[in-house]
Amino acid sequence: MAHGNGIPCCPVLALLVMVTFSNVFLFGVMGDEYVSAVGDPGMKRDGLRLAIEAWNQCNEVGEEAPNMGSPRAADCFDVYKSTSQLEGENDCSFCSKFPHLLVHRVTEDDNRLGVGTPFPGGQKEVLQNVDLYAAQKELYLGYKCQVPDKPKPWQFWMIMLKSGNMDTYAAKCPKNGHKIGPYGPDNQFPCFGKGCMNQPLIYHNYTTLQGPKRTTLKGRFYGSWDLNADLSRGGDNVQNISYYSVTWEKELGTGSWIFHHVLRTSSKYPWLMLYFRSDATHGFSGGYHYSTRGMLKIIPESPNFKVRFTLNVIKGGGPGSQFYLMDMGSCWKNNGKPCDGDVTSDVTRYSEMILNPETPAWCKPDDPKLCPPYHTFPNGTRVHRSDKAHFPYDAYHLYCAPGNGNHLEEPNILCDPYSNPQPQEIMQLLPHPVWGYYGYPTRKGEGWIGDPRTWELDVGGLSHNLYFYQDPGTPPAKRKWTSIDLGTEIYKAPDQVAEWTVSNFDILVKLRK
Ligand SMILES: *[C@@H]1O[C@H](CO)[C@@H](O)[C@H](O)[C@H]1NC(C)=O
Ligand SMILES: *[C@@H]1O[C@H](CO)[C@@H](O)[C@H](O)[C@H]1NC(C)=O
Ligand SMILES: *[C@@H]1O[C@H](CO)[C@@H](O)[C@H](O)[C@H]1NC(C)=O
Repeated sequence: MAHGNGIPCCPVLALLVMVTFSNVFLFGVMGDEYVSAVGDPGMKRDGLRLAIEAWNQCNEVGEEAPNMGSPRAADCFDVYKSTSQLEGENDCSFCSKFPHLLVHRVTEDDNRLGVGTPFPGGQKEVLQNVDLYAAQKELYLGYKCQVPDKPKPWQFWMIMLKSGNMDTYAAKCPKNGHKIGPYGPDNQFPCFGKGCMNQPLIYHNYTTLQGPKRTTLKGRFYGSWDLNADLSRGGDNVQNISYYSVTWEKELGTGSWIFHHVLRTSSKYPWLMLYFRSDATHGFSGGYHYSTRGMLKIIPESPNFKVRFTLNVIKGGGPGSQFYLMDMGSCWKNNGKPCDGDVTSDVTRYSEMILNPETPAWCKPDDPKLCPPYHTFPNGTRVHRSDKAHFPYDAYHLYCAPGNGNHLEEPNILCDPYSNPQPQEIMQLLPHPVWGYYGYPTRKGEGWIGDPRTWELDVGGLSHNLYFYQDPGTPPAKRKWTSIDLGTEIYKAPDQVAEWTVSNFDILVKLRK
């Protein structure tokens, strides 16, 4: 530490507290009062809370990548303002050189924690199990990042990576939650051979203050699923390997974080996913069957919430890129009861609006097996999929039914039984006039490349009116969305690149009056 002119300079670090007016941040949207459900409304908090996780095809770890530790890591820090201890003391050379300091809460040792290595709070029983170890590491990182708040403390935004590769001969993924043995070949799933379900390399540049005045906060996670990839010269220019990168940047004290995402597939890894998630702070979150940590200090419930964010799609990721303008995940049983961790009766429910204009409607008037049984208009009118004059076929990419539904309407297609630890149900929408009421895109191409937009989506209203399967005569499930995210899934298409930024993200929950 340099002490310029011999005058004792003892920098005092004062925690920079964000300007918050009160815990309940009210706004009027058409006369209603809303409160933010996320810990960092609008991504404005300088002291970032961010984590990354990687999943295999069935949302587990399976096997850690060599020397990478368990695929959970975080970048969480507080910003301190350095001031001289003496009142009116202006010659603190340290202070003028470094007016702000970042104090990171998660160390490299924390981020490198891997199976077998104990850590505070880690239970002995899970130390040798890669799947359970990752789940507990997430809790530990959450403990280090946690921000006290009302009505609940919260931990971090979550970057999620997933590879769709599956080695059916390795028998690593259960089928609809039931353990099964090796089988194959199954060309539904890409796999180049033994080890194809590996976790990615995860490199990390901790957030630092950059720029001529040291006022730009910037950091990065990046890597590849190709374990022999040389990313020493960055990854952007390396051809023919899988690659992902999330860079985050913000000007101190002003504006929003901007999260810049890149995802590239390769012939070995043609099915990859990269999402930016706002997950529940405890309990399960969409697709994750362990207790999670996240951003949602309030769990949004249909129909009373909206989601606001700015999305700039720079590269689309090719025709197979199911770019999700909005992706939400929840879990409830077919009898409407909340999930309890029993993977044979819990059902993950997903709904997504696919923004990519190249994605066709597979739901068709003459072939309705990929259509939901009915569509509900905002005024409550229901139209059956056999009503060719009124059913909005082009509004649906596909609907697939949960594999454990006992009273499904025929014809139907069951969702992939492997890609979740439990059965799943998926509703995928396309831009269409029927969604305009909720603020969603009504025409293909809206919000796509060259058309960055700030969206305010009535996600609550839309998700309230979507069809989801339940056993006949059971009380309707409470639709509580434990993961609200956006990003892309490049589906079985090698050598494709998607690139986009997300900023100003917020979830607004309507206050009950
Ligand atoms: C980012 O991190 C990588 C891997 O740890 C390192 O090789 C690289 O030099 C870092 N880049 C910067 C700009 O600090
Ligand atoms: C990448 O792979 C394609 C197809 O296999 C090949 O034509 C191309 O030359 C490769 N490029 C590099 C830089 O290796
Ligand atoms: C509800 O909305 C649909 C679609 O706009 C329309 O066809 C139908 O007539 C409306 N029903 C009522 C009862 O207003």
